[in-house]
Amino acid sequence: MSIIRVHDKDFEPYLSAGEIEAKIQGIARQVDKDYADKKPLFVAILNGSFMFASDLFKAITIESEICFIKLASYKGTKSTGQVITAIGLDTDMHGRHVIILEDIVDTGKTLSEFLPQLEHQQPASLKIAALLHKPEATVYPISVDYLGFSVPNKFLLGYGLDYDGLGRNIPSIYKLVEG
Ligand code: IMP
Ligand code: MG
Repeated sequence: MSIIRVHDKDFEPYLSAGEIEAKIQGIARQVDKDYADKKPLFVAILNGSFMFASDLFKAITIESEICFIKLASYKGTKSTGQVITAIGLDTDMHGRHVIILEDIVDTGKTLSEFLPQLEHQQPASLKIAALLHKPEATVYPISVDYLGFSVPNKFLLGYGLDYDGLGRNIPSIYKLVEG
């Protein structure tokens, strides 16, 4: 494996496809155990989580459902600031055991604004599964219940994560070469 160039930047190998696969199997076994007979509803947040969601969902063996939403932020009024709306949030979450699927929790802003909207629908439980978490980047604390990897505060690419639109199709994860 070697350095790849995307747009104007160089990236070096960071997490192999095999390491990611092994970690996802571990999360799946835990979810299978924790949610047996609960018929969980996975809510995958597009675009970044599509690969994680697909691989995790394939590894789950208990009865479960999945739906996909996209979060769009727009400028609200002065008092509300940035407002996040969920596009495609048409599944009834009331009384369901919901597990959010995120590719990466960075500052925590996205989830901290979106979670109250889900809680409003009164799910029976609400947990977060994220492939990656950058604890050093936290501005809005989010507790990740099922975590793949805790990573440094560096820009990552691949396995669903993009750099200006490119790189999502790479089956492993790369890290920006700095300097
Ligand atoms: P947050 O709201 O700051 O937690 O940001 C979450 C979103 O930012 C993620 O769902 C990603 O789409 C994007 N993001 C954060 N860090 C990275 C990265 O290292 N590479 C690519 N996208 C990232
Ligand atoms: Mg994302």
